[in-house]
Order: sequence, then C-alpha cells, then structure tokens
Amino acid sequence: MAYLILLLAILHVHKAWCEATFWDTAVQLSETMTLECVYPLMDNLTQVEWTKISGTETVNIAVYNPNYHMHINHNYLHRVHFLNSTVGFRNISLSFYNASEADIGTYSCLFHTFPSGLWEKKIKVVQSDSFEIAASSNGYQYAETGQNVTLNCQLPRNWPVQQVMWEKVQPHQVDILASCNLSQGTRYTSKYLRRIWSNCSQESIQSVIIPNAMAADSGLYRCRSEASTGEKETFVIRLVITDGGTNKYFILPIAGGSVSLVLLILIIIIIIFYNRRRRRQVRTPLKELREKPSKVATNCRSPTSPIHSIDDEKEDIYVNYPTFSRRPKPRF
Ligand SMILES: *[C@@H]1O[C@H](CO)[C@@H](O)[C@H](O)[C@H]1NC(C)=O
Ligand SMILES: *[C@@H]1O[C@H](CO)[C@@H](O)[C@H](O)[C@H]1NC(C)=O
Ligand SMILES: *[C@@H]1O[C@H](CO)[C@@H](O)[C@H](O)[C@H]1NC(C)=O
Ligand SMILES: *[C@@H]1O[C@H](CO)[C@@H](O)[C@H](O)[C@H]1NC(C)=O
Ligand SMILES: *[C@@H]1O[C@H](CO)[C@@H](O)[C@H](O)[C@H]1NC(C)=O
Ligand SMILES: *[C@@H]1O[C@H](CO)[C@@H](O)[C@H](O)[C@H]1NC(C)=O
Ligand SMILES: *[C@@H]1O[C@H](CO)[C@@H](O)[C@H](O)[C@H]1NC(C)=O
Repeated sequence: MAYLILLLAILHVHKAWCEATFWDTAVQLSETMTLECVYPLMDNLTQVEWTKISGTETVNIAVYNPNYHMHINHNYLHRVHFLNSTVGFRNISLSFYNASEADIGTYSCLFHTFPSGLWEKKIKVVQSDSFEIAASSNGYQYAETGQNVTLNCQLPRNWPVQQVMWEKVQPHQVDILASCNLSQGTRYTSKYLRRIWSNCSQESIQSVIIPNAMAADSGLYRCRSEASTGEKETFVIRLVITDGGTNKYFILPIAGGSVSLVLLILIIIIIIFYNRRRRRQVRTPLKELREKPSKVATNCRSPTSPIHSIDDEKEDIYVNYPTFSRRPKPRF
C-alpha cells in the first residue's frame, strides 16, 4: 500500500514535470497553502487578476485595481484571502483558508502593467508528497553570502539535448528558474522571485548564476535535460550558503560521514599530541620539586584543568622557587 502511494506520488510529480512548459511554479496542495505571486519589475501596475484555468474555461477568483478595491468572486469569498492586500499590490499572493482536493488545478496571476503590458505567472497545485523526496541531491556546493554563485550542469554526451531546465525544489514548491530550447535557441522568462542569470549557449555545460547569494538561496537546485526522442537526465545540487568562513566547519560533517570521521581522528591526534607535550613540559620542574609528592599527583591526574594550574602557580609563588617561570601557563 505504501509503495502504491509512493508510486502515485512519483507519477504526480512526473506528470507535473512533463507539463513543465505550462506552469512557472508547482505547489503542493495543503489546507492553508499560499500561491505566491510577486511582480518583480518597476513598471506601473494598473490591475491584477487571479483566475483558475479549468480546461478551456477560466474561472474568475479576484480582481484588484488600486483605483477601486479588491473584488473577490462570491464563490471564493470565504475561501481565499490576501494578506496585507492594501500594501501588497506588487505582492498579490493568494492564500487559502481551507483548501481541498477541489482546489487542485492551474491558477493564473495576471498583472496589467504600463508600459510593458501583460505579465502572467501560472501556478499549478498538485497533490503530492514533499517534492524534495523525488529530488535527492547528487552533490553539494558551498558559497558565502554576497557571492555570485554559478551552478553548473554537465549535459549528457550520448544523446542530443533539446531542452534544459533549472528548477529550485522546496518541499512544498518547485519553481522554474530557467529553461532553454537548445535547438530553437529560445529562452523562457523566469517568474521566480529572484533574478537568475542564464544564457542558452550551445555548450556541454549549462550554468545559471545566482547573483549576490543570500541565506534564503540555500536549497536544492535541479537541472533536467531532455532529448526530442524522450531521453531524460536529472542532476540535483544542494546549495549551502554560509554567512562567512566559520559556519562552514559546522556544516561540513553533514556532507558525509567520512569528513566527520577524518575530523574526529584529527581532533584525537591533536589532543594526544597536546597532552604529551604538556606532560613533558610539566616533568622538568617536578624533578626539582621532589619534596612535594602530593602536588605531583594532582598535576598528573588533571593536566588540563585550569583551576589546578592556577592553584599550582600560587603554591609556586609560596615556595618561591627560581624555576617557576618555566612552568606551563594555563591555556584555557
Ligand atoms: C509610472 O507613473 C508615474 C506617474 O503616475 C510616472 O511618473 C512614471 O514615469 C511611470 N513609470 C513608468 C515606468 O512608466
Ligand atoms: C508575499 O506575500 C505572502 C503572503 O501574502 C508572503 O508569504 C510572502 O513572503 C510575500 N513575498 C514577498 C517577496 O514579499
Ligand atoms: C503589512 O504592511 C505594513 C506596511 O508595509 C507592514 O509594516 C506590516 O508588517 C505588514 N503586515 C503583514 C502581516 O505582512
Ligand atoms: C475544512 O473543510 C473540510 C471539508 O472540506 C471540513 O470538514 C473542515 O471542517 C473545514 N475546516 C475549517 C477550519 O473550516
Ligand atoms: C557579481 O556580478 C556582478 C555583475 O557581473 C558584479 O558587478 C559583482 O562585482 C559580482 N560580485 C561578486 C562578489 O563577484
Ligand atoms: C524546441 O524547439 C524545437 C524546434 O523548433 C521544437 O520542435 C520543440 O517542440 C521545442 N521543444 C520544446 C520542449 O518546446
Ligand atoms: C554563457 O555563460 C557562460 C558561463 O556562464 C559563458 O562562458 C558564455 O560565454 C556565455 N555565453 C554567452 C553567449 O553569453
């Protein structure tokens, strides 16, 4: 039964992939889902419309015109809402109160702008498991905030690639970032929130550039290549954006057990080496302090304890031995 559900989920996702050219974003059905639609350019906006596309028919959900107000269709009146609708003219994201299977389908968010004209984003709501399950990563890439991150994808050599598509995969959402029809040289205009640089060059390595990376750019990126004959290949990179040098070393062990094992061995070696050096350093003055055997015991038992070291130094001052300056200083 579990296998059947998994198979159905994979089929759903697969179906969603195959219809890729007909949507910009795929969203997992959930009761309080939000269909994100943000106009990215600086044009003047005159009106926004939300519709649901059912076959050849379009069902009106809401219209917003800044000169009037938000008009929500009576069928949707108590089912959807716009957070902060008065401010959000550029962000006209549609949120559901209690979405159900009846809300599966394709939605269109259409901006009328001046002078560019129409700008439309199509969002497909599908019933599926987490999208990330279907996209296990083939590798990791690390970058720091503020860098221009280039993601590369090696195209298969054994068949001619016609279509290359880059997606950002989140558990609840898949966004198309770039898409190229290599034989035609046509490029799709991304509706993604963030501007991504890509070019449709006829090269064996396809790349996209995420300018000025932010922490929110971390996540799974999927490159899919397709031949006209139907061959497909998928490559997934997990991008990790760190906020400067130090964090990297805490994230590294996640990359693989081997890395953490090497680190562990390294730490053990350092500790052993450090302890030996300390003991050797400690031994020299101890020979000269043979009249104080109790002190030798404490020193050997806890060579790294800072409190003992301080105590020992106090005692040394009391004894007033000339060699005390050679004693190791507390390091912690
Ligand atoms: C938008 O409208 C304002 C006045 O309403 C105008 O000054 C501005 O140039 C317009 N912007 C564009 C990109 O057309
Ligand atoms: C747009 O608004 C939705 C909720 O209405 C919010 O979840 C989302 O983060 C907003 N996006 C941006 C880019 O402001
Ligand atoms: C609504 O917009 C105002 C003004 O931009 C902002 O201060 C406030 O945080 C927003 N509220 C929500 C819930 O997004
Ligand atoms: C959501 O809808 C389901 C049926 O579609 C209903 O049983 C449930 O009570 C609703 N929940 C809320 C919070 O309205
Ligand atoms: C990112 O690319 C832009 C445009 O090419 C450039 O101006 C900027 O200096 C680059 N930033 C970094 C950190 O390389
Ligand atoms: C890419 O372009 C070719 C040639 O014009 C066309 O036959 C094919 O359908 C296009 N592929 C897609 C996925 O749009
Ligand atoms: C496309 O991008 C790659 C690397 O990002 C660069 O080497 C190549 O020159 C670019 N091609 C065009 C036509 O801009």
